[in-house]
Amino acid sequence: MSVNISDVLDIVSRQNQWRGREAINLIASENVQSDAVKQAEINDFMGRYAEGHPNTDQKDRRYYEGTRYIDQIESMAVSEMIKLAKCLQADVRPVSGNAANTAVALGILRGNDTVIVNSIENGGHISHNPIGVVGRRIQVRGKVLTPGRENSINLHYWPTTEDGYHLDTPRCLDLLEQTSPNMVILGKSLFLFPEPVKEIAEVCRAKNIPILYDGAHVLGLITGGQFQDPFKEGAHFINASTHKTFPGPQRGVILGNMSSEQEMKWWNSVDRGVMPGSSSSHHLHTLPGMLIAIREMAEYGHQYASQTVANAKAFGQALTDEGVNVEAEEFGFTESHQLALNVTNFGDAKAIARSLAEQNNIITNYNLLPGDKDPNNPSGLRIGVQEMTRYGMKEADMQELAALMKAGMEGKVVKDEVVLLRSRFTEVNYA
Ligand SMILES: Cc1ncc(COP(=O)(O)O)c(C=O)c1O
Repeated sequence: MSVNISDVLDIVSRQNQWRGREAINLIASENVQSDAVKQAEINDFMGRYAEGHPNTDQKDRRYYEGTRYIDQIESMAVSEMIKLAKCLQADVRPVSGNAANTAVALGILRGNDTVIVNSIENGGHISHNPIGVVGRRIQVRGKVLTPGRENSINLHYWPTTEDGYHLDTPRCLDLLEQTSPNMVILGKSLFLFPEPVKEIAEVCRAKNIPILYDGAHVLGLITGGQFQDPFKEGAHFINASTHKTFPGPQRGVILGNMSSEQEMKWWNSVDRGVMPGSSSSHHLHTLPGMLIAIREMAEYGHQYASQTVANAKAFGQALTDEGVNVEAEEFGFTESHQLALNVTNFGDAKAIARSLAEQNNIITNYNLLPGDKDPNNPSGLRIGVQEMTRYGMKEADMQELAALMKAGMEGKVVKDEVVLLRSRFTEVNYA
């Protein structure tokens, strides 16, 4: 008896048509993969296990047999990632950016430690915060989580300048002196401008404090040479997703630039945080695709990243010209792939995001902006242009899109025009 799967296939094909062909995707944490990456994801590795590290001629490092081909792929992914990111270590096993953060937290942090992070209100990621892995990993079983209490992590938040999008470096350095943290985390989810890594790293390195730069969003911009270079500025770790500005499969990576005895202790502890700490087998079937994406970025990353940032800036200006309140105008809107829009003059941000997606095929997410107090009542939309850039959009196309987006935010239905615009951008570039 054959299984009836037509309804499942029908839903998949509707998704492919809607999000893959007819919608303009402005979610800042997503991207589209090249056909080569997608094709390389369908393979026998899908059902296999490969815990540990690749075997070498000298040493067995796996806990299962049958791994000769994933050993090759994983070793190549590690060495090509190290070359691309110009660093000394790479662990390509985390299945996502969150898993990478979990591994570092498990490896480095212990109860009562102190960590400085970006708050959620100022764009920080949930995994760094009280309900995420950094804030709660030492939670005592059966007790209500109270950050600052015995066994939990004492979290402090980087102070920002008045605009909320930049760290206030002198006050950050004061906080470092006052708190003597066990680790600091830079990088965030609403990430418009570089962080003062260099200044913070000077102090941290003198005090032997590990610096984790969470580049989940900006990995592709960093490897493309279009954002700050956190390793050059002194970071020890860069954690990232490999599917945002870096257009690979949904996975994560931990990069390291460490050599001293103390630093190698951190790297080895994080290794145990990856396996067995936060993963066993690591979704092997997506690793060949990631290796292909690493090569695409080695070849085209610079061009792709520079067009992405140029498009984001152009989109910021075009939206402003349309009368939309784009945050950080006085700083040129952004240095990354993202923009933050304050949409309160059009109505409720959640409702606007929903109607843009459902009525007009423009996909965004609502977001807290600096100063927002109620997580259920955000005033912003976060948008990213990395996917439409990969589909070939340039600065002039941003103007067309800005007009449609403004009309959508005003409650007009411009879906047909959006579908028409999207139909001009269906091929994946930079691959
Ligand atoms: C700063 C930051 N770190 C980590 C993550 C989690 O990454 P992933 O979704 O790959 O688990 C995100 C997600 O968007 C993020 O913005």
